[in-house]
Amino acid sequence: MQKTQNYINQESTRFLQELISLLRIPSVSADPKYKKNVNDCAEAIADQLKHMGIDCVEICSTEGHPLVYGEKIVNQSFPTVLVYGHYDVQPADPIDLWHSPPFEPEIKNTTIHPGGAIFARGACDDKGQMFMHIKAVEAMINAGELPCNVKFLIEGEEEIGSENLGDFVKANREKLKADVILVSDTGMLANDIPSITTGLRGLSYVEVEVTGPNRDLHSGLYGGCVANPINVLAQMIASLHDDQGKITVPGFYDKVVDLSHEEREEMAKAPYSHEAYCSALAIHDVSGEEGYTTRERGSIRPTLDVNGIWGGYTGEGAKTVIASKAYAKISMRLVPDQDPNEITVLFKQHFESLAPKGVKVEVKPHHGGEAAVTPIDSIGYKAASIAYEKSFGKKPIPVRSGGSIPIIAMFEKELGLKTILMGFGLDSDAIHSPNEHYGLFNFYKGIETIPYFYEAFSNLSRQ
Ligand code: BES
Ligand code: MN
Ligand code: MN
Repeated sequence: MQKTQNYINQESTRFLQELISLLRIPSVSADPKYKKNVNDCAEAIADQLKHMGIDCVEICSTEGHPLVYGEKIVNQSFPTVLVYGHYDVQPADPIDLWHSPPFEPEIKNTTIHPGGAIFARGACDDKGQMFMHIKAVEAMINAGELPCNVKFLIEGEEEIGSENLGDFVKANREKLKADVILVSDTGMLANDIPSITTGLRGLSYVEVEVTGPNRDLHSGLYGGCVANPINVLAQMIASLHDDQGKITVPGFYDKVVDLSHEEREEMAKAPYSHEAYCSALAIHDVSGEEGYTTRERGSIRPTLDVNGIWGGYTGEGAKTVIASKAYAKISMRLVPDQDPNEITVLFKQHFESLAPKGVKVEVKPHHGGEAAVTPIDSIGYKAASIAYEKSFGKKPIPVRSGGSIPIIAMFEKELGLKTILMGFGLDSDAIHSPNEHYGLFNFYKGIETIPYFYEAFSNLSRQ
């Protein structure tokens, strides 16, 4: 891979410029206002693939945003890597909190990234990470060192639940046939503590609506006489956890796979500092389910969190009013073997049963997805481990993550393939937040590491 690494070093400035161009496109999938930008972004990626010599490049339209496909079959007898990533990004709001505009990328130094980081929406999640794969493959092609066949599947709806990708996968099993799936859309522990993500949580996302009187009321004339939907909603939400931090929805934990004592001990070996964790978030203490560490609470245990809550008067000054309606959005992060559809039903039944007389409660399901775990004895994992060891000079630690990428479990079900999650982001990179950024070190380390994966995967496949 020496020629490949030389090429990467020679072309590194251009790689960054090209990433900056991609980041300028506001490909926000959630907001219809950006539909054209999302399309433009798909085109930009397709152009990239075409120019570097990828074959059969197509922009596949779906009922939602398009996805980009392309492949390079070097030799039928070589193993095939299916690269998945997403070019869509989260909305940038609240815009006011950005120090530089979200779609005008800027490079700035930070304490954690003294070598510079690129600030833009999607810098880390997932344009920056997805683009590392495009550049790594470009380098291998140019150096004549591509040891595997490659298929690219880059979608535009990950941030809104990958609803149409599932159908595409089901309809294109043959086309997507591969030996392993490779994804960079997660993180690692620190720039000097490489790690490989071996698990993702599932997700059930719901919206709840509490309706009281048929109109907003004067809080003096009616206060104390009717159930106030906002008060009721607050009480109902508060009752969803007991005083040990356990979720009170009946049946919620029934299918949760508990980790063995040994597995938990193994997990606890990953470095963790309570002080550093708290100080990074400016909090005095952590909080969560009793009997579990912070890392465990954030990865191997299921959770329930309110993501948004609204109702009544929230404008300037005071308005004395009892609102007719109150709303909340609630996410539940799930672990193996919880079924998101079952959990949604359990939640709906329970939450609606909590409604006191005098209000009506409705639960509307949004998207969901299953958890996924990657074994560490597969050749895919071993190849990744060898690759990190080469580029970081250290063996990576397997770590389960708390985030979700619903399509990963779907890939396993529909294509029978496990995914290797080679994430190079850091938790502090502010993904989904204002001032999202991605370290230049991480960007280049990713591009350097990926070819070593191809090399090791090809070697191990032949043994
Ligand atoms: N890339 C993230 C997921 C992620 C980030 C996993 C960091 C592990 C570490 C992905 O783009 C994402 O944001 N997923 C959503 C779920 C989706 C259905 C909207 C999430 O986890 O909230
Ligand atoms: Mn992502
Ligand atoms: Mn995301």
